[in-house]
Amino acid sequence: MSFKTPVKIILGTHTVGDPTEIPGIAHFDSAKQVQALLDVFHSRGYRHIDTASNYFGSEVRLGQAGAASRFTIHTKVAGFGKPGDHEPSKIDLSIGQSLDALETSVVETMFLHVPDRQTPFKDTAKAMNDAFRQVLQPVFFSGNTGTSTRWKHDNIIGKLYSTLYGHPAVQASVAVVRDAAEKHGISGHAAAVRWTAFHSVLDGKYGDGLIFAVSKMEQLYKTLDALEAGPLSDDLAEAITAIYGTLDGAEPPYHL
Ligand SMILES: NC(=O)c1ccc[n+]([C@@H]2O[C@H](COP(=O)([O-])OP(=O)(O)OC[C@H]3O[C@@H](n4cnc5c(N)ncnc54)[C@H](OP(=O)(O)O)[C@@H]3O)[C@@H](O)[C@H]2O)c1
Repeated sequence: MSFKTPVKIILGTHTVGDPTEIPGIAHFDSAKQVQALLDVFHSRGYRHIDTASNYFGSEVRLGQAGAASRFTIHTKVAGFGKPGDHEPSKIDLSIGQSLDALETSVVETMFLHVPDRQTPFKDTAKAMNDAFRQVLQPVFFSGNTGTSTRWKHDNIIGKLYSTLYGHPAVQASVAVVRDAAEKHGISGHAAAVRWTAFHSVLDGKYGDGLIFAVSKMEQLYKTLDALEAGPLSDDLAEAITAIYGTLDGAEPPYHL
């Protein structure tokens, strides 16, 4: 294995929010629950949090918990892909609302969350650039969507992810990883996060990071323990790397 600069480990917070708005997704609702989540992540030495305007109630809860005073925050412009969502006036409004909710004057990254195929991208890019110059300081990128392990059909994200990742070939590859990991005495989840952190193309020298989320505190401990265990054994890492070649075009798209 070649040695790389460690990737940033980022706590995703789509599970922080109002469970009545997003049943089955939000698990950290009260101030006490959110504080406990942030305290443990911080106490283990991590300093990056990912959120979004679209994660109902996540930004405001992070703001109330004072997250921006001790974490670097990455968030995203509002909108679920409706034509016009990225018109300049809506970008301005969304950024202002995010900063207010987060109780901060600056975030590290402002992503474009879901594509707006109607608004000319140069108008959107100008609005993002203007906001960067006026209100946002260090870094201001646009992005798209990430990956997930959520499969439940009883919520909007579960339905989306089942479509994206439900192909039988993808499911078969998940089973292969799980079985291989278990032979090495670790869970499929631990193998997946360790492979992503240490054996994938991600490299901290480019500013790459790994975002993960949890629905309960126990998962936070387990995921951090896994990441802190370091690289996988060569044979397990190679077995996971080889799986991509078996998907033969069935892999999920990297964006919506
Ligand atoms: N830019 C974008 O468009 C975009 C898109 C997606 C996600 N994201 C970011 O990425 C973050 C992560 O999202 P994701 O969808 O990729 O979530 P994920 O980290 O793949 O999955 C989270 C789920 O994995 C399960 N889990 C967590 N720790 C576990 C452990 N130790 N053992 C077994 N299962 C475990 C839990 O499922 P259960 O709920 O079943 O317990 C948890 O809710 C989000 O919070 C968000 O910040 C960004």
